[in-house]
Amino acid sequence: MTEPPPAEHSAAGLPAAVLGIETSCDETAAAVVAGGHQVRSSVVTSQIDLHRAFGGVVPEIAGRAHLQLLPAAVEQALADAGTDVPDAVAATAGPGLLGALVVGVSAAKALALAWDVPFVAVNHLEAHLYAAFLEGAGHTGRVPNSAPTADRTTGAPTSGAGPTSGADPAAGPTSAADPAAGPTSGADPAAGSTSGADPAAGSTAGVDPAAPGPTLPMIVLLVSGGHTMLIEMAGHGCYELLGQTLDDAAGEAYDKVARLLGLGYPGGPVIDRLATEGDPQAIRFPRPMLADGLDFSFSGLKTAVAVHLRRHPATDRAAQADVAASFQRAVTDVLEAKTLRAAEARGVNSLCLAGGVAANSELRARFEALGTQDYQVFIPTRAMCTDNAAMVAAAGWYQLQRQGPSPLEASPKATWTIPTDRAASRSSDQGGNPSW
Ligand code: KG4
Ligand code: ZN
Repeated sequence: MTEPPPAEHSAAGLPAAVLGIETSCDETAAAVVAGGHQVRSSVVTSQIDLHRAFGGVVPEIAGRAHLQLLPAAVEQALADAGTDVPDAVAATAGPGLLGALVVGVSAAKALALAWDVPFVAVNHLEAHLYAAFLEGAGHTGRVPNSAPTADRTTGAPTSGAGPTSGADPAAGPTSAADPAAGPTSGADPAAGSTSGADPAAGSTAGVDPAAPGPTLPMIVLLVSGGHTMLIEMAGHGCYELLGQTLDDAAGEAYDKVARLLGLGYPGGPVIDRLATEGDPQAIRFPRPMLADGLDFSFSGLKTAVAVHLRRHPATDRAAQADVAASFQRAVTDVLEAKTLRAAEARGVNSLCLAGGVAANSELRARFEALGTQDYQVFIPTRAMCTDNAAMVAAAGWYQLQRQGPSPLEASPKATWTIPTDRAASRSSDQGGNPSW
């Protein structure tokens, strides 16, 4: 099989545009991102309506829906970006639902072959980390040695800019994002450009040292429907897994508690909204493993909510809101405390949120507040926290710079942890860097 050509840059020396494709679960998404951070277009087509009746994602339905929805999503992403042929195509190759991943990966390979451009197989967890590198990502706190941070284009100070204030609290999956606006609902697009990033940190070979992005090393709290992880990102492609959930993921706990309350799927956004009406101190739910290392456990908390509801059925909205608010407070207490413990243990004061649960209002507010203390905090826009293809394109761009294209033989992987160079050496079953 012929290897695709290496990534090209445009004649003007501007970074190449990557088409990203995301089909790992129930969002069919395509996006064009230039230089690993400039969002030219982002289209996210949610399948939630197809799965809602079943109370969760049905893999077979997801795969078939991706087949139907992906061509239009790609067409629209290219049209919105004003791009006929991108310089590379990146697709999520795992972890996720195999039948869903196959659709996106096959489409990406076919397009890369037809256009004669490189194909990049991207890890979905790594992609979530790159949401913080997209323009529009927010930043609070001071960047060392350069405070206040100057806006690259205007020279205006951006330190302390609230990344999320004013953002749409109801932001669930979005469709047809405005390419001009980018996925920046309410956020300060300049705030993500933090020139304090240390280009020497980790393996940054080939990456533009002037590229904007969070300050590295940073501790990333990655909280999604399938994963809850604390990761130290020392450089591009250089991650260390510090802790993870021993049972349910944080998003899974949200979804299960929403089901217990008789609220719809997905549960995160519903509980987030309902919690604003309730008293977070009404019920003292457990804070699992709060004092205990860097791993998480959320299944006991879910059980505690179930037991509470058996004893005190939440028959009206006020009672439901108290349960939602108290549950959410317990989750965010644990997530914040463990993140701070990881930061202290590693001597790192740069923090980052990633994954669908990072769209949560309370979690965002708590992390924003840390920016007023001794931390620099990087928070993607809500739309870029939940599954999208812009983060895939960004991760693909950085991967191309580091490793070049992926082989066209690359197969999707249902299970694939974040490709952690150091963790892979600590434990051979981490499955960090695949040989395809
Ligand atoms: O990252 P994501 O879109 O997909 C996965 O890779 O899993 O995360 C989806 C998860 C779901 O469990 C959903 O309930 C949760 O993120 N979620 C939220 C919020 N928005 C989405 N959880 C809490 N608050 C939210 N606002
Ligand atoms: Zn995800």
